Amino acid sequence: MQKQILVTGGTGYIGSHTVVELQKAGFEVVIVDNLSNSKIEVLDAIEKISGVKPIFEKIDLDDKKATDHFFDQYTKIDAIIHFAAFKAVGESVQKPLEYYRNNLNSLMNLLDNMRRHAISNLVFSSSCTVYGQPDKLPVTEQTPRKPAESPYGNTKAISEDIMNDFCKVNASVNCLALRYFNPIGAHPSALIGELPVGVPGNLVPFITQTAAGLRKELSIFGDDYNTPDGTAVRDYINVVDLAGAHVVAINRLLNKKNKRNFEFFNIGTGNGVSVLELVKTFIEVTGVNLPYKIAPRRAGDIEKIWADTSLANTELGWKAEKSVAETLLSAWNWEKSVRGIK
Ligand code: UD1
Repeated sequence: MQKQILVTGGTGYIGSHTVVELQKAGFEVVIVDNLSNSKIEVLDAIEKISGVKPIFEKIDLDDKKATDHFFDQYTKIDAIIHFAAFKAVGESVQKPLEYYRNNLNSLMNLLDNMRRHAISNLVFSSSCTVYGQPDKLPVTEQTPRKPAESPYGNTKAISEDIMNDFCKVNASVNCLALRYFNPIGAHPSALIGELPVGVPGNLVPFITQTAAGLRKELSIFGDDYNTPDGTAVRDYINVVDLAGAHVVAINRLLNKKNKRNFEFFNIGTGNGVSVLELVKTFIEVTGVNLPYKIAPRRAGDIEKIWADTSLANTELGWKAEKSVAETLLSAWNWEKSVRGIK
């Protein structure tokens, strides 16, 4: 029988790409989203790609009553992927209570319902932000976590702790956290992608919006870091590759292949790329003009981080496949389709 997966935040950036990959793998998807940072039209785009419109419920997961009511109605869920969360680092500094309340209550309301309804499996969106600026690179899962730099980052660390503690006393519950590095790009169809509200805080949406003429120029934050070209280094992972990691994680839990009932994995490419390298690759593959200047460092930024992905490679049998160049091209194709640029 077709397994049913609940995807919270399924109309969002990573969520929507994961829904498509789950459908491709034969799962039935139920999306819960409050549409606070996404649009309902994403459901039509998903249907255009996969041929199947996912079931959708508009719910705030930090509303316990509404969440309980949802789980009373949907009794066939085999596993949950939990994306729904606030994710703007800067905003989280301004609105710490909103971030802690939303991100932590949602997770606890889900876990509570997993216990109430005997749902065994949860895949959670974590982040490499839990490592802070690591002393040694690349980071493995054994690399110690560092105190978070922002309330957003702290919600990811606390969420991992909540799952760890919960799993200790609920032996039938399995939680698997994926620590994403920097997700970029869009579906090759250019029907879904990242659509930030207002001025983008993240690098690639700022690049594509500048190339599209919406922003005057890109500021590269800092060229005096201790890196080969002086700009900061990250591990940029294609969003479709990342979506695939969730399908693998779900199969691991459904097939009871997990070794412990709380596990976590780095999900990146294993390659560090500097901001300047990324900008140059973008210009090269798209052929578009991208005005940029060097600006001061951004507060709270780390110098460099990239993943050791050995554990995901060997344990999950998952590996990133797409190059940064083709990923940047997919981000540009998406921006063009959103702006109606030929
Ligand atoms: C941040 C978070 C990460 C979160 C991710 C996506 C931290 C430490 N990292 O990653 O947890 O998952 O956002 O929301 O909290 N840059 C520019 N110009 C710009 C924008 C960015 O030069 O206009 C540079 C940044 O300084 C950085 C790199 O580009 O060096 C990547 O920035 P960004 O896309 O914002 O991601 P992170 O800060 O790495």
